[in-house]
Amino acid sequence: MKLRFTLNDQPAEVECDPAITLLDLLREHLHLTGTKKSCGVGECGACTVIVDGDPVNSCLFLAGQVQGKTVYTVEGLAEDGELSKLQKAFLDNHAVQCGFCTPGMLMSAKALLLRNPHPNEDEIRRAMSGNLCRCTGYDSIVRAVQAAGEA
Ligand code: FES
Ligand code: FES
Repeated sequence: MKLRFTLNDQPAEVECDPAITLLDLLREHLHLTGTKKSCGVGECGACTVIVDGDPVNSCLFLAGQVQGKTVYTVEGLAEDGELSKLQKAFLDNHAVQCGFCTPGMLMSAKALLLRNPHPNEDEIRRAMSGNLCRCTGYDSIVRAVQAAGEA
């Protein structure tokens, strides 16, 4: 099946089985390996991308469901070749350690900031509750998202 959708502001066209996951479509067919595969069953949030403005676990989302939709991955965050304010805030607030959770954290945070540009701590913790991190203890991530909202 031919899939046509918008990916990181560019038109994308891919011939593939619509029953594979969006995660495999991105990583294996489009070679966008920024989106991480960890649990593969919707538990960790490492594979989070944004589809039509909403954060989704791409390991649970079928490739065929992106037909005609708008998808953003972590590769789409940079602005004019520079890290976005959100990415810089993660670095400045020491919100990245091993970094495996970071692409998913960034995309959940981006989806939150799109619908609520100045979230408070509770709103951030709720929005990021589906993203697990084994390194940072979460406080630095929350501070980073708050800083990006203030910027
Ligand atoms: Fe998708 Fe863990 S890899 S939620
Ligand atoms: Fe290592 Fe989050 S920085 S899992």
